[in-house]
This record gives sequence, structure tokens and C-alpha cells, in this order.
Amino acid sequence: MVSAPHGGKLIERIACKKLSDVSELPRIVLDEREVLDAENICFGIYSPLEGFMCEDEYRHVVEFMRLPNDLPWTLPIVLNASKDEIDFSVGDDVVLVYKDIPVALMHVEDIYRYDKRVHALKVYKTVNVEHPSVVRLYSLKEFFIGGKIELLNIIPNPFERYTLRPKETRVLFKERGWRTIVGFQTRNAPHMGHEYVQKSALVFVDGLFINPVIGRKKKGDFKDEVILKAYDALLKHYYPRESAVLSIVRYEMRYAGPREAIHHAIMRKNFGCTHFIVGRDHAGVGNYYGPYEAQEIFREFPDLGITPLFFREFFYCRKCKAIVNEKICPHPKRYRLYFSGTMIRNMISKGERPPPEIMRPEVTEAILEFENPFVE
Ligand code: ADX
Repeated sequence: MVSAPHGGKLIERIACKKLSDVSELPRIVLDEREVLDAENICFGIYSPLEGFMCEDEYRHVVEFMRLPNDLPWTLPIVLNASKDEIDFSVGDDVVLVYKDIPVALMHVEDIYRYDKRVHALKVYKTVNVEHPSVVRLYSLKEFFIGGKIELLNIIPNPFERYTLRPKETRVLFKERGWRTIVGFQTRNAPHMGHEYVQKSALVFVDGLFINPVIGRKKKGDFKDEVILKAYDALLKHYYPRESAVLSIVRYEMRYAGPREAIHHAIMRKNFGCTHFIVGRDHAGVGNYYGPYEAQEIFREFPDLGITPLFFREFFYCRKCKAIVNEKICPHPKRYRLYFSGTMIRNMISKGERPPPEIMRPEVTEAILEFENPFVE
């Protein structure tokens, strides 16, 4: 049975107002992260959220990793504004704008200050400004604005044909007769480690939902279009059509390791997944989180409503002549070839092909078709 949405009800908040009705309203300009969050709220990907967080929700989430009603929720979903921008009061309606597009209508319920240091330490476990989300946090303005929103316009989506929303995936999974569905989060072009994690999980469930995040990433990550072309090649040659679905989610990575792993699981629960893959260093960056911290945190959420599937790191063993992990391989470390993102990136940057034990040749070819496949 497709999973129930988080909090019990799939949220859908699409405005019935005409655009002319909102042109006179005060405006808040959104940045890239906020506009994607707004869409995700309105399409139910963040169910049960119906808007940007008010102060009590924000404080509960930062402090306890739960909403005030005790439902698991680990990442603050907040809208930022400066004192000068706030020409409205609690109770007013405002329009949220991105690149001159009126994206959503908001009913303002709360305007509040927050403590950046506490936020950084609790959510990202560091105040180091080399962390991509900490540097962003420290550049934010002094207020958060809370309140329910309704979608007015979808911002242009170059990957519309790869985009299914929770309402659609839930129908699709049912149509396929899948009772158990495993969600796979990724921000990368697939190497053999990714393929093995997915296929190991798929052995035990009916369907695989490959759900790459599309949205601003950090320097050195693969570009969005590269990830999709690479997956097209992998699926075409190595996956049975009837057991995998590829669809994107537009979302800005936080690189918040364990907390983000819970958030990723909640999003996939809302798409209808019953299971969720968590491997090594999920949503990690640098050395801010332990390699399996994103698995350990799930112990604190027995009430999450989606079953995590944990995997130890996969690598290629020259003795086994197979992709294995430490649970199933008895050989010494010297036989191991790890799936290092840095190594793959370095080889591809030089136009070299990673060995087939590391990346499928068809995937490598798809990536090499791009002059520069990496975010600059
Ligand atoms: S992430 O930031 O989205 O987590 P990535 O796209 O590399 O990064 O990983 C997607 C998922 O695959 C994560 O759950 C990650 O832990 C898992 N994963 C990646 N590489 C391996 C590997 N070699 N062994 C086991 N799991 C892996």
C-alpha cells in the first residue's frame, strides 16, 4: 500500500485568485531556496506544512526536530526578510515574488527574529562558514516571516517532462500495483555504488523511485542536466522498465547530513514511498558528519512512517571481482576500489573514462557529451 502522507493528509495549496487581485499587495522577494520551498509546500512535498514556519514551529524544529504537535520534522522551512522590506503587518496578505514572477500569496501570521549561531549549531552542527548552508545563513536578513501560502505561478521548469508531483506518483505507484516502494535520494550522476544500493533494495520491494534533486548545488557537483542524461543512459541499458521510475524534485540541498536525511525521507513518504535508502554519508559535505550519522538519527524517529533501509559503503573488491561491502567481503582493504566522487570528477574533467567497475561506460559517455558537466 502506498504510504500515507506525513501528518495524514496530502497538502495542495493552489490559489484561485486572479493575478490582478494581487498586483497591489506588498511584496517579498524570494531567493532560489525559498521559491523551491514555496512550490514544495504547495504541491504537498512538504506535507503537512501549509506555509513558511511561524516562530513556535521554527523553535520546536530547531530544538526538538519535531513540529509543535510532535510530528517529526528536522529542517526549518523559513522565509527571510529585512526590516526595510517589511511594509506589512501580521494579518496582512503579501505576494511572494521570484524574478518578477508572482509565485505565491501569503497570509502573514508571524514576523520574528532568530539566532543564527543557534540555528547553525543545531541544524548544521557547525558555525564554520565553509559549510555551504552556514555561509548562506550568515548572509540572511534579520527576520523570518511565517504564514500559510497558496501557489499563484510555477516558475519555469526546464525539466517538466521529468517532473511528477506527489499526487501523480501516488496514482502511478497504484496503477503499477506496487505495494512497497523504495525512494532513492541523489544529487549525483550514478556510479556503480549508487546502482548497487538501489538494486539491493529493489530485490526486496516492488518498485524503485529514483528521485534526483534538481536545484542550486555546490561548486563541483554535477549539473542538473548531466545527472538526468546519465540516469537516462543507466535506466535504458540496465534497469527493467517496469520496476523503476525516474522523476526529479526541485529542491536546494542543505548538506545537513543526519537532519537532512530525515527530511529527505519525509519528502519521499509524501510521494508515496514506503521505504527510503540511506547509505554512507547521506547529504553530507566535508567532514561535518560521521559516515553513518545519517543512519543513526533514524533511531530517534520510530514514528516517522517510512522505513529506512541502511547500507554500509559499497566498493569494488578485486578479489571478489564484484561490488560488495564490508558485511559480505572478507578481503583486506588493499583490494578495494572506492567510489570516490573526487576521483570520478578528476578523471571526467580530464576527459578520461572511469573504469567500468566504477561507472557504467554508457553513463560515462553521456557525461562526456557535456563540455563542462560540473557546477562552477
Ligand atoms: S546525497 O547527498 O544525495 O546523499 P549521493 O547522490 O552521492 O549524495 O548519494 C545518494 C544516496 O546513495 C545516499 O543515501 C548515499 O548515502 C548513498 N551512497 C552513495 N555512494 C554510496 C556507496 N558507495 N555505498 C553506499 N551508499 C552510497
